[in-house]
Amino acid sequence: QIYANAKDASAAVAKEIADLIRSKQKEGKPCVLGLATGSSPKTVYAQLIKMHREEGLSFKNVISFNLDEYYPMQPDSIHSYVRFMREQLFDHVDIPQENYFIPDGTVPATMIADFAHRYDNKINAMGGIDFQLLGIGGNGHIGFNEPGSLINSRTRLMTLDHSTRAAAAMEFGGLHQVPKKAITMGVASIINAKRVVLLAWGERKAPMIKAAVEGPVTELVPASYLQAHPNVAFFVDERAANDL
Ligand code: GLP
Repeated sequence: QIYANAKDASAAVAKEIADLIRSKQKEGKPCVLGLATGSSPKTVYAQLIKMHREEGLSFKNVISFNLDEYYPMQPDSIHSYVRFMREQLFDHVDIPQENYFIPDGTVPATMIADFAHRYDNKINAMGGIDFQLLGIGGNGHIGFNEPGSLINSRTRLMTLDHSTRAAAAMEFGGLHQVPKKAITMGVASIINAKRVVLLAWGERKAPMIKAAVEGPVTELVPASYLQAHPNVAFFVDERAANDL
């Protein structure tokens, strides 16, 4: 789906999410969202907050699972994805605090595998993810599934690529401040979602959008795994679609 700009594309994505939340409400069911961080989803979250304020869109039946968190990371750090999600969405809507889950950047190293297993189990216990929102890294990663991630990978600890840490260096005030690891939902955890929507804005995403959409399905470009998904859409602006 190619839009003139990020704002128009984000409005369309937010509408899709709102429609899903409302239809689940009508059925008296929870709506399970897989949510992403990074700059790309910010405009979608802003639009959802607007719909909450202006149209009374309620998030009371929303259960959400975030893709990833840096490791180690304290939830109250300005760099945490917990903080990001609260600032960008959760604190501005009526989602109950016990309804959102974000990988815990404070679990002791020896407990990560167990934590990750429980995270996947919790998603499964909710009946899986209805709608998964994604961004794409400059190296083709989804969540923090770096190149080399396997299609059957589950939630786990990942060592971040140099390019991923370099992209975050400014935010953290220098490369040496960027955590070397992250806990991320796996590729399988992501592609098991019933619907997947990937967002990409701007020229710098154009080569990876081309590789993910038109290139071979390869572990070298984890976003290319989405080609096999029966219900996936890439919402991009014209600049990110430039190489297609
Ligand atoms: C980080 C996140 C990804 C995100 C990527 C791209 O690596 N873990 O989930 O997709 O950044 O970020 P942006 O949307 O800012 O380009």
